[in-house]
Amino acid sequence: MKQSAKIQYAVFPVAGRGTRFLPATKASPKEMLPIVDKPLIQYAAEEALSAGVTKLVFVTGSTKRAIADHFDSDYELEAELEQQGKAELLAAVRGIVPSWASCIFIRQSAPLGLGHAVLCAKPIVENQPFFVHLADDLIDSAVPCLKQMAQVFADRESSVLGVETVPMEETYKYGIVATEAREGRISRVTKIVEKPKPVNAPSNLAVVGRYILTGTIFEKLERTGRGAGGEIQLTDAIADLLADEAVYAYEFEGKRYDCGSKLGYLQATVEYALKHETLGKPFADYLQGLLAQAK
Ligand code: UTP
Repeated sequence: MKQSAKIQYAVFPVAGRGTRFLPATKASPKEMLPIVDKPLIQYAAEEALSAGVTKLVFVTGSTKRAIADHFDSDYELEAELEQQGKAELLAAVRGIVPSWASCIFIRQSAPLGLGHAVLCAKPIVENQPFFVHLADDLIDSAVPCLKQMAQVFADRESSVLGVETVPMEETYKYGIVATEAREGRISRVTKIVEKPKPVNAPSNLAVVGRYILTGTIFEKLERTGRGAGGEIQLTDAIADLLADEAVYAYEFEGKRYDCGSKLGYLQATVEYALKHETLGKPFADYLQGLLAQAK
């Protein structure tokens, strides 16, 4: 089936428990953790909007209400900022979602896995191609990662997985693909396995939190049983999709931070702070002072 080259929907599965970041994630979503001054989920929305989507679909669960509030208007706050003449802050608050984009929230009834969370978006997305964006994988790049992938989709009209090479000993943390020969950054996927041990891994090319999927994935997800960890795995549905359709791996340009882990989160915080327009210089001075003390 010919796919429309323009992707309108981005699905953000945000219903996970975030156990790696407890106790911070006990009562508040990990996607609301800030990197400097913006929550992870706002970086995610901005990346999707830059790739041309107009509909942001959040699959939420318990303890995730702050995400809906973040993307909603707050008239009291806006009136207060206006009255105080804080124009810059007012623009920052008002500009979180542009007027031409809409936010749609669906509740995942129980955390049955990423595949199940994506399937929850079917009544909205129907048979359209769509992005899946996992907000805890933060990617810093000159061209936003989903925008790079949208270009691949426009050329190939097939599902595209964002991938990067990982150390062989870490394959057990990711979906791992085997591929045909690479053409630049693109290769056709021949196999995909969820969280294989290094000895069983078909390669060290790992799928990270960026996907473009065709509507066919929903048919596959409906038939996917519980897999690794007792969860309905998106990886297993993609493995089924491979039998019917081409799926491409795309080695994106950019640096990924695993902000679902405490170390990855700290690395992103430091590097984004060092790049920040106003904070960068004083923060660099502060770090240099710390290093000097440590010597
Ligand atoms: P993770 O594997 O990172 O799980 O999920 P998690 O629960 O968020 O975090 P940890 O591992 O316990 O620390 C990958 C993505 O899938 C979403 C998560 O929100 C995350 O974006 N997810 C996972 C759901 O939306 N629903 C689920 O049932 C499971």
